[in-house]
Amino acid sequence: MGTSEAVLQVLSGAAPRLFSGDPYFSASDSRCAFKLPLKCSSRRASSYLQFLQYSSVQQYGVQGMGSSFSGSRKVDPSWLHSCKCQKAESVSGVTTEDGNGAWFVDNAKKLNPTDSMVNAPNVLEFQDLQQLKQEKEVFTSSGGNGALRDTSQNLNIDSIEDEAWELLRESVTYYCGSPIGTIAAKDPTSSNMLNYDQVFIRDFIPSGIAFLLKGEYDIVRNFILHTLQLQSWEKTMDCHSPGQGLMPASFKVRTVPLDGDDSATEEVLDPDFGEAAIGRVAPVDSGLWWIILLRAYGKCSGDLSVQERVDVQTGIKMILKLCLADGFDMFPTLLVTDGPCMIDRRMGIHGHPLEIQALFYSALLCAREMLAPEDASADLLQALNNRLVALSFHIREYYWIDLRKLNEIYRYKTEEYSYDAVNKFNIYPDQIPPWLVEWMPNKGGYLIGNLQPAHMDFRFFSLGNLWSVVSSIATVDQSHAILDLIEAKWTDLVADMPFKICYPALEGQEWQIITGSDPKNTPWSYHNAGSWPTLLWQLTVACIKMNRPEIAARAVEIAEKRISRDKWPEYYDTKRARFIGKQSRLFQTWSIAGYLVAKLLLADPSKAKILITEEDSALVNAFSCMISANPRRKRGRKDSKQTYIV
Ligand code: GLC
Repeated sequence: MGTSEAVLQVLSGAAPRLFSGDPYFSASDSRCAFKLPLKCSSRRASSYLQFLQYSSVQQYGVQGMGSSFSGSRKVDPSWLHSCKCQKAESVSGVTTEDGNGAWFVDNAKKLNPTDSMVNAPNVLEFQDLQQLKQEKEVFTSSGGNGALRDTSQNLNIDSIEDEAWELLRESVTYYCGSPIGTIAAKDPTSSNMLNYDQVFIRDFIPSGIAFLLKGEYDIVRNFILHTLQLQSWEKTMDCHSPGQGLMPASFKVRTVPLDGDDSATEEVLDPDFGEAAIGRVAPVDSGLWWIILLRAYGKCSGDLSVQERVDVQTGIKMILKLCLADGFDMFPTLLVTDGPCMIDRRMGIHGHPLEIQALFYSALLCAREMLAPEDASADLLQALNNRLVALSFHIREYYWIDLRKLNEIYRYKTEEYSYDAVNKFNIYPDQIPPWLVEWMPNKGGYLIGNLQPAHMDFRFFSLGNLWSVVSSIATVDQSHAILDLIEAKWTDLVADMPFKICYPALEGQEWQIITGSDPKNTPWSYHNAGSWPTLLWQLTVACIKMNRPEIAARAVEIAEKRISRDKWPEYYDTKRARFIGKQSRLFQTWSIAGYLVAKLLLADPSKAKILITEEDSALVNAFSCMISANPRRKRGRKDSKQTYIV
């Protein structure tokens, strides 16, 4: 297929009126709203589970200006059926429905408990690249299973893994007798749980992946289906409702007295969409992670029936609708407020933060794979394809930075008014921070944290960069360069505990202004360049994708020296991650699960496929066409017929 043909296929009808003609979202659809929470009840003497109670069907109005779309969910009758919690003699042996709705299955295998706690010697220093290379050879020749240790070390490592599994299973939370998620932390040393006793969507991703890799699929299936129902929740803050496809940041299983019956209680699912969260920020990443997990579930379990369900398909479309809705923006990147993701406090990442863009791209690719091919989805698929191309072009071209690009920015002309501007965003060279001039290695590069008019956030954000590798929004060369930079900057990014959430810290007046003098985000702490062990799993997937697993193996080895002894902290503080974080939770579930996923994937790297997305040839062709039509090289009104509206 010729380039232009391919591009036309991908880009034709370049200004779609998204969803307007999509019968899936027609105004006549009714929507199941849960004025009452999802619930199941039990009585004191004989525990039994009731029907989940749905409240009245409610039609939602149009949300947002200019949208001809009235989002609604068709309630799959099989879902209603499968929501029925059957009467059970004992809660532990919750009855399973066969056929259509066999999903309330408590399949969690019993543990192999182990009491062993490891007192490993102190941290291992990263030596140098030479040593890393030697270990790469050992790693490769040992079949990639990381057989770098002697037998006694192996025993220790095994007991760390056993302990991690035990802790992960202890964090599982149940609803109607079935496992539906893992709470954020089970820290016995902390009297104030805040909201860490909730199931966070983003925190559950590594837990879910660990269970998938272990062949325990039910908890993930239950999680996917229950959070999907929460998407339909009626949510407001001071009378304002966010978009309908929004997924909660977290939810909690609460046991409350049953209305009008003192002797009975019921379990309810209580979501938080940000209306109770500190800062009241909506979690943009939740829906994107949900789509990524849904695909991973299908790929790992082979059970495609979940993603094929009508309600699940509608859920995917509702998330896409929110993300693809037209707005005022000139950029294809998602515009968000501060703290919409893993960094969920004010850290100056409002605008177009890389993490959200990488997850967005990943979710678009995953959704494209799962959307049922039907006429109703044609507009949506077209909008999705257009966005994929525009987004990857924008990120690759404008977020990328290495020594050469830095030098180019250093010599930028400013105030260019024209279509031919090189310095499109009017970046003043003085913005290049002094630390970066020293820090940028000769070999390697990375994607900057954020790009706005006249503003580049030059901080290195780890999750954004790692997921850019995993999702293929970064090119192959860029992906290798990101890993090169991680190797070159090992003492900054890994140091004594992987992995810095961002680098460097905001300090002094910058910290005061940008974080609002946030005492939790002081320099080199928490989100402000603290170190988060959970990032190990994303590092591992990225390294495996680029066929460089030895980098991740090395980081895992460093974590193993103290993570269990330190009681699985949420994060570490100081430049070199020497201290357990000031307000760090202990027994933080995603630290535990992140470690387990890294171990499981390093033991069988082929499994990483369930998370990786690759560009297909149509996208590659469309992208190369974008490059040749790059306005930096060829621009002007005369070319307008050959440029692509993206
Ligand atoms: C903190 C983190 C957030 C995480 C939550 C629960 O708020 O910033 O990313 O989801 O804790 O662990």
